[in-house]
Amino acid sequence: MTHLSADCRTIGAYDLRRATEAAALAAYDWIGRGDKTQGDHAAVAAMWRELDSLPLDGLMLVGEGPRSEISMLYHGQRFGNSSSAPVWDLAVDPVEGTSFLAKGMTNAMAVVAMAPHGSLFNPLPAFYMEKLAVPPAARGKVDPAAPVAERLRQLSDAINKPVDDMTIYVIEKPRHRALVEEIHAAGARVALYPAGDVAGALMAAIPGSGIDALMGTGGTPEGMLSAIAIRGMGGDFMARIDPQLASEHAAVEAAGIDTGRWHSLGDLVRSDDVVFCATGITTGLLLEGIERTRTQIKTQTLMIGGESGPRQMLTSWHRRG
Ligand code: FBP
Repeated sequence: MTHLSADCRTIGAYDLRRATEAAALAAYDWIGRGDKTQGDHAAVAAMWRELDSLPLDGLMLVGEGPRSEISMLYHGQRFGNSSSAPVWDLAVDPVEGTSFLAKGMTNAMAVVAMAPHGSLFNPLPAFYMEKLAVPPAARGKVDPAAPVAERLRQLSDAINKPVDDMTIYVIEKPRHRALVEEIHAAGARVALYPAGDVAGALMAAIPGSGIDALMGTGGTPEGMLSAIAIRGMGGDFMARIDPQLASEHAAVEAAGIDTGRWHSLGDLVRSDDVVFCATGITTGLLLEGIERTRTQIKTQTLMIGGESGPRQMLTSWHRRG
């Protein structure tokens, strides 16, 4: 386990939240306009500006893409003093739920997380991973490789809730048809969302949220963001690299990645010194979205780790410029 010395902890969730607030505010104008790209670009630029203005000595481990394709928030980008080893490794998603944003739907949010340099699993070159997120009471008690009905039974025992009372968050994708059928056959409910498995994973880790687990395959950046948040606030998160694209299959094979291996939360995030912030863009299960009046803009941010402790919600009112 990596531990930071006190003088390295110059940046906490309260500072980092400026990056997610800025990205969310920049994306706001693009809610419901049918355009995924412009909102994402606006959020990327705003997040990059804020991260660059912080006294942050960090390496972008899981960014928006390779340097050859993008100019801001690329994998490997350095913030701060590049002549020495970075203090932090970062993962970002300036708009988690770009399709939610474009369609004016729920659960779009801006997300940033970081952990001490060298303490994060690097999922590249994989784009997809299968995920299992459960609440703190089920930590270490659900075998992610077991058949779905068995996993649900183990979860039910751990959280002391009958399977037919449980709700499992799954993103609605053709690849999840069999999973949904198996959950239904076991007697549990399925909450199907078109996108947004960071919200699903975090809700699964929060007891009483109405979601008891997240199952299914989604993005690796979203998976790492979820893992960092859950490491900080409690709960369990496990993942298995699960390539979906032909090009990804080849890259994963060439990198020698074992797609049969489930990574524990301790493998994915090897430190408790994590910081995570998510600001709502559109209102969803986890966060309220941005509200704008003639003079003010309200944001809501979930902050985890550092001086914010396991979990804190911050509502901020910003003056309209
Ligand atoms: P985007 O912001 O990239 O649209 O991601 C939304 C999301 O639903 C994630 O929450 C999820 O991990 C991923 O997409 C799943 O990818 P895909 O839609 O390609 O199956």
